[in-house]
Amino acid sequence: MKEIDINTPSVTSKIHCGEGVLDKVLPKVLSGRHIFTITDSNVNRLYGEFIAQKLAPHGEVHVIPAGEKSKNYTCLARILKHMLHSGLKRCDTVVALGGGVVGDIAGLAASLYMRGVHLVQVPTTLLAQVDSSVGGKTAIDFCGVKNIVGTFYQPETVIVDPLFLSTLPAREIRCGLGEIIKYGGLSASILEKLEKNTKNLSSEIFLKDITYDCISHKADVVTRDERESGLRKTLNLGHTTGHAFELYYKRKSHGEYVLIGMYYELFIAVERGICPPEYAKRLLSLIKRVVSVPAYADADRACAAAAYDKKNVGGGEISIIVPVCPGKAAELRLGADEYSALIMQCARSLAEEKQ
Ligand SMILES: NC(=O)c1ccc[n+]([C@@H]2O[C@H](COP(=O)([O-])OP(=O)(O)OC[C@H]3O[C@@H](n4cnc5c(N)ncnc54)[C@H](O)[C@@H]3O)[C@@H](O)[C@H]2O)c1
Repeated sequence: MKEIDINTPSVTSKIHCGEGVLDKVLPKVLSGRHIFTITDSNVNRLYGEFIAQKLAPHGEVHVIPAGEKSKNYTCLARILKHMLHSGLKRCDTVVALGGGVVGDIAGLAASLYMRGVHLVQVPTTLLAQVDSSVGGKTAIDFCGVKNIVGTFYQPETVIVDPLFLSTLPAREIRCGLGEIIKYGGLSASILEKLEKNTKNLSSEIFLKDITYDCISHKADVVTRDERESGLRKTLNLGHTTGHAFELYYKRKSHGEYVLIGMYYELFIAVERGICPPEYAKRLLSLIKRVVSVPAYADADRACAAAAYDKKNVGGGEISIIVPVCPGKAAELRLGADEYSALIMQCARSLAEEKQ
C-alpha cells in the first residue's frame, strides 16, 4: 500500500493506492460519519453487496444511470435534491463510487451542497484510478459542451484499489490506457516503462505498477499548479482534439479519443518542427497498440467543436499541448483555420497510409 499527498494552499488530499486499501482505509475513513454515496447503475449491480454492507449502513445511496449521458444538469439537480431531502449536513461526507462520470458529478455536487461537504473518491475504472479521481476537477457537460460547468474541489481522500479492475470490460481497460499513454508523453520514466511492457500493457501486474506512477505524476503537477494556470495544462495532452472528436463522433470511449487526439496533435507538432519525428514515432507506436486511429474525412467539422473547449483562449485561437522531448510538453496556440487545416492534413496522410 502506498500513500501520495496533494498539498494545495487550502487542503491536503490523501491518496491511498494499492491492493487491499479498500478494506484497510475505508472503515477508518467512514468511522462515525454520516455519508451520501453516489454510484452508477453498473457499479451498483456489480458491487451491490459491498454497497449494502459497507456503505448503505452509514447513510443514503444515490444511483445514476451509467454513462456520460448522466453528466448533466438534470442529474446533478436530482442528486442535490436527494442530498437535501435526506438531511445531509455540512459535516457529512459524499462518497463517489464509480468511474470518471460518477467522480465528476459527485465531486461537483459535494462542492456545491452547503458550499462544500467532505468528499471521498473511490474510483472503480482504470481511467478514474489513474487520472480523474485525483486533482479535484469536477464537472458536468452543458449545452453540448463537455465539462463546461464545474469546480476545483479536492477530495479529502482517494482510495485506489485495483480489485475493481477485475470486472472491467476490455474496452474500459483500453480507455484507461489512453490516459496512461498520455502520461508517457509527459514523463520520461513512464514512457520507458510503457515501452518495456508493450506486450503486456493490460496485464494486472503492469497496471498496478503504472497506476501509482501516473497518480504520483499528477499529484506533483496539481500540488504545483492546482488551478491550471501553467504546468497543469500539460495534463490536457491529446484532450483538445480528443474532446472535439468525442463530442462529434460519439462512438469510442473518452480515453480512446484522448489517444486519437494525441495522434493528430503529434502530427501537428512534427509539422511545426516542435517535436522531433523520432520521438513522435515512439509515442505514435504506443498509441497504435491501443487504438486504431481513424482517418476522419470530416475532421475539420469536428474540430469546430474545439473552439468551445474551455481550455481555449478565445480570439479564434486553439490551444493544444504538444510533446517536445521525453518528459517535456508545451502549449501551442494556433489560429482556428490553421489548426483545422493541419488536422485535415493529418487525416489525409492517415487515409494514404491505409490505402
Ligand atoms: N475530473 C478529471 O480530472 C477527469 C479526467 C479525465 C476524465 N474525466 C471524465 O471521466 C469520464 C470518463 O470516465 P470513465 O472512463 O471512468 O467513464 P464511466 O464513469 O462512464 O465508466 C465507464 C463504464 O464502466 C462502468 N464501470 C465502472 N466501474 C466498473 C467496474 N469496476 N467494473 C465494470 N464496469 C464498471 C461504468 O458503469 C460505465 O459504464 C468522462 O466524463 C471524462 O470527462 C475527468
